[in-house]
Amino acid sequence: MATHLPRKKNLSDTQAAARHGRDQEMKDDNVLLSMRNLHTQFFSREGILRAVDGVSFDIKRGEILGVAGESGCGKSVMAQSILRIVPTHGRIVDGEILLQHDDEIVDLAQLDWRGDKIREIRGATVSMVFQEPMTSFSMAYTIGNQIIEVIRLHQKVDETEARARAIDILRRVGMPQPEQNVDAYPFALSGGMRQRAMIAMALSCHPLLLIADEPTTAVDVTIQAQILELMKDLQQEMNMAMIVITHDMAVISELCDRVMIMYLGKDVENAPAGELFRNPKHPYTKGLLNSVPQLGGGKSQEIVAITGTVPSPYDRPTGCSFHPRCPDFMPGVCDLSEPPQITVGPNHSVRCHLYV
Ligand SMILES: Nc1ncnc2c1ncn2[C@@H]1O[C@H](COP(=O)(O)OP(=O)(O)O)[C@@H](O)[C@H]1O
Ligand SMILES: [Mg+2]
Repeated sequence: MATHLPRKKNLSDTQAAARHGRDQEMKDDNVLLSMRNLHTQFFSREGILRAVDGVSFDIKRGEILGVAGESGCGKSVMAQSILRIVPTHGRIVDGEILLQHDDEIVDLAQLDWRGDKIREIRGATVSMVFQEPMTSFSMAYTIGNQIIEVIRLHQKVDETEARARAIDILRRVGMPQPEQNVDAYPFALSGGMRQRAMIAMALSCHPLLLIADEPTTAVDVTIQAQILELMKDLQQEMNMAMIVITHDMAVISELCDRVMIMYLGKDVENAPAGELFRNPKHPYTKGLLNSVPQLGGGKSQEIVAITGTVPSPYDRPTGCSFHPRCPDFMPGVCDLSEPPQITVGPNHSVRCHLYV
């Protein structure tokens, strides 16, 4: 059975057989995307920056994965790696990003980032919404023209049909007067409406996976809630998988099935959402959860933030990179070796010496 994997030339028979078995497993388990030990780095005069430093996760069809962690922990670069839009001085240096696409398994990490294959996947199978809608839109064209262009790039429909579809998707994301607003320029819309237009563009080809990178950080709280609600509705309607990147644990608890916590490029904890909130294991995860104000907690409640800040990625602490900030730091252990990934429960893993 052909898997169309871009096989490395020197793959031995045993390796090829292992890969074949693993691909079958992915299909059997309905896994849409499987990231395996991904490393993405930036190269500059200051040195090598390990932005994504060995991240693994699976996401099934229709599943919502939340990715949380403080700013600078590699969430965006991880997402950019999937779509192969990492800036040019950055590179995927190791690992796999297996996507089940048209009944074949493609390793996105192996594709030419300028090639036809990734272009075919971008926008149609996997699409992305950003914090700032202006990243998605050009100022020079109406939102309708830009949505129509995406539709026509991936689907064989004429201009009239594409326009009808653009209006329809704008209506579905709650754009008022979609027949008129389809001809609006991005700058003529309010922030919330631009956000909706961007979501419409991202959904216009019914992707199997939508990556939302801090989709609501730039809009105010009321609109934030509406947009999250909208994304959840559309996700269910289309049975689309989603990766929701946020530093907001409240968003995770409302939206997600699974959670991956990232710290300095590593996946320090990965668990089903309910389990993570009930039974967090990593001291960093506990810190993030403690910094969320509890509903009904009143004004006087204390928000315990994690002490210190994320260290410079050029000056990574030895051992577990969280150890200088960790309340459970064990000298002679945590500062000496990197904790392995440990399974602490069903689908629950953590990288921490406390559980070794
Ligand atoms: N274009 C870039 N060039 C160089 N370094 C980058 C670039 N984008 C991100 N980084 C670095 O990669 C690391 C991860 O960044 P990022 O993925 O943006 O974090 P997050 O999204 O979690 O806030 C950070 O140290 C950041 O400074
Ligand atoms: Mg980011």
